[in-house]
Amino acid sequence: LGKIKASDEDPGLCTYDPGFTNTASCKSSITYIDGDKGILEYRGYPIEQLAEQSTFLEVAYLVVYGELPTKEQYDAWVHEITYHTFVHENVKGFMQGFRYDAHPMGMLMASVGALSTFYPDARNIHDADNRHMQIVRMIAKMPTLGAWAFRHAQGKPYVYPDNELSYTENFLAMLFKMSELKFSADPRLVRALDVLLILHADHEQNCSTNAVRSVGSSQVDPYSAVAAGVGALYGPLHGGANEAVLKMLKRIGTVDNIPAFIEGVKAGNERLMGFGHRVYKNFDPRAKIIKKACDDVFEVTGVNPLLQVAQELERIALEDEYFVKRKLYPNVDFYSGLIYEALQFPPEMFTVLFAIGRAPGWLAQWNELIQDKEQKIARPKQIYTGDRTLTFVPREERW
Ligand code: ACO
Repeated sequence: LGKIKASDEDPGLCTYDPGFTNTASCKSSITYIDGDKGILEYRGYPIEQLAEQSTFLEVAYLVVYGELPTKEQYDAWVHEITYHTFVHENVKGFMQGFRYDAHPMGMLMASVGALSTFYPDARNIHDADNRHMQIVRMIAKMPTLGAWAFRHAQGKPYVYPDNELSYTENFLAMLFKMSELKFSADPRLVRALDVLLILHADHEQNCSTNAVRSVGSSQVDPYSAVAAGVGALYGPLHGGANEAVLKMLKRIGTVDNIPAFIEGVKAGNERLMGFGHRVYKNFDPRAKIIKKACDDVFEVTGVNPLLQVAQELERIALEDEYFVKRKLYPNVDFYSGLIYEALQFPPEMFTVLFAIGRAPGWLAQWNELIQDKEQKIARPKQIYTGDRTLTFVPREERW
């Protein structure tokens, strides 16, 4: 099509689609979304069933390898991931060099990228066993790096992985362990966090996944590609919404202030954070599951008074013409911040949790990309709007 030109100056027939709202960049068999019907499936399995019956590592295997693991495959997968949770001591030294107030997402992005220098074998991306090795390493080490970024901001010593614990409980231990005593968390809280990770495991060609694919299409190692994904997720338009929801709920404070707040939203003064989605125009299936997880968590931690504000906001918004007409429903972020807060996470850690959950999706997409014979290096066209064929003006005539 590029050869269809009206003149020599014409760049040729092409689509202009900023943000790729109507352009498919790849073929993929990982995640299916029907935004109108509120359907999300990983490898064909509905998210509701996975959240109810599966574990995060089982879902990670499914997302990466396309099928539910047999018992042998699952045991081997969990064993491998558990075995690789430790990171090189020099990675620890690297992380300790950050400023005392470094944002944990900045630390995560840098330390994931730094792993590429510790595993130069990762550049051998056309070998399937080698790719498997790096996928295992990355999924295993994300919680370690994320937890250490958190401890760093608190000025606390980093806690090494405890490989007798499950993936999610080990993560909690590295975050919150305060003594030499064996760490243990309420299983209901561990399960709630596991479910939250499952809900974030993949979401087809979102901004960070597109970043991973775009960088990965240069055939760089997966650590560099995933670091690009963490960078994309760091941005407030992508991974930062749940933090904004929590701030909004705190600002509203009590149920009595909701009507005035809603009027402000309808007048266009601000957005109801945690509502609306580019793809889901009926409901976000993840939001329903999170609401249930909220109940489970608050049963253990005691109810956060902001839950009542969130529930009342949702009730009022779902009956209000403004939101109904625009198809605005709670998204995955509306309740997740409340759960994270109940689990003692500070807001700047919310996106780190998202990144740990999304790691299997990024890696599955990268693995798929590398094996896709039709895939080319990502190199979009542009519509050039600048000057042409100017004559250079010597300095003595300009200064
Ligand atoms: N509150 C109030 N009004 C809204 C909201 C909202 N949360 N979201 C959209 N609208 C309105 C817009 O003002 C617009 O109204 P108009 O037609 O009168 O101009 C209409 O709904 C359509 O909005 P768009 O911005 O065009 O919708 P888009 O699909 O591009 O945006 C987005 C989706 C960015 C998620 C948006 O709904 C939003 O900003 N929501 C709040 C932030 C949020 O919760 N983000 C998390 C998304 S989930 C995730 O990233 C994991």
